[in-house]
Amino acid sequence: MSHELQLHPDGRLRHLLSLDGLPASLLEELLDRAEAMVPHAHAGTALRDRLAGRTLCTLFFETSTRTRSSFQLAAMRLGMDVLNFDVATSSTKKGESALDTLRTLEAMGVDLFVVRHADDGAVAALAAGAAQGTRLINAGDGRSSHPTQGLLDMLTLRQRKGRDFSRLTVLIAGDLKHSRVARSDLQALRALGCGEIRVCGPANLLPGDDVLRGCRVFNDFDQAVAGVDAAIMLRLQRERMDEGLVPSLEGYYRDFGLSPERLARAAPDALVMHPGPMNRGVEIDGGVADGPQSVVLAQVGNGVAMRMAVIDALLRG
Ligand code: NCD
Repeated sequence: MSHELQLHPDGRLRHLLSLDGLPASLLEELLDRAEAMVPHAHAGTALRDRLAGRTLCTLFFETSTRTRSSFQLAAMRLGMDVLNFDVATSSTKKGESALDTLRTLEAMGVDLFVVRHADDGAVAALAAGAAQGTRLINAGDGRSSHPTQGLLDMLTLRQRKGRDFSRLTVLIAGDLKHSRVARSDLQALRALGCGEIRVCGPANLLPGDDVLRGCRVFNDFDQAVAGVDAAIMLRLQRERMDEGLVPSLEGYYRDFGLSPERLARAAPDALVMHPGPMNRGVEIDGGVADGPQSVVLAQVGNGVAMRMAVIDALLRG
């Protein structure tokens, strides 16, 4: 994507719309900033003055559990006023456009919008129409991008495996085709110089070569998982079953589920990751999801620190 919209001329972030093409130095700066936020992410008032008087609005045109809640908490830890705009009961239902909604809230003094939308490019389009001083964060648009999820996944990897991504083999498995998380993770892993990136899923749930650039592609999960340092499992988007893309849940688990036996083929200290929401017994065994190698809840926890860091970078530079 073009960076004219999301970067200032001097390279600082103006909006966070996508990780595509962002330099490693910028990603590392955001990850370092998040690490500094970790001690303050879950409790305390130490940073309550940092962004006091500034206002964040969550504008979610699609459902969310983790992303929206963690943005709310992140903003509150930084002392911001938080407005959770409820699309379902708003004039959007009367046909008001997303841009008119944003401008209306801008007129009330919102500084930063966190936006999720079902359409690819919808958040960038809003950023293009927003006032000069307004900031936007993409909290997931269509299949395209979920940059803060990509960053929090990198933070989780870095905390446990060190800063040198060139030593790592990371597998992303499941429905990559429809996953914005997969795209953002792939962009971040490439930028940070991950040694080997593997992907695995049913042929009809893998995206095109442009998305999988530089990846080793596997159709056999047993081979894909062998020796990996981390397995990022993706939700089987059950809504795809209606399209006939997935014949049966049992068959999917048999061929592409992360079972205890499969996990035993990975490196002994391999991390099990999942952005949530999980389908237990479909893409991941429940025991594996709750097991000692799982960092699924650590990812969620890191979401608060990572989002504090991104908010801070956008509003304080
Ligand atoms: C995902 C999303 O909405 O992109 N969840 C998340 O934000 N952690 C993934 C999904 O819905 O499968």
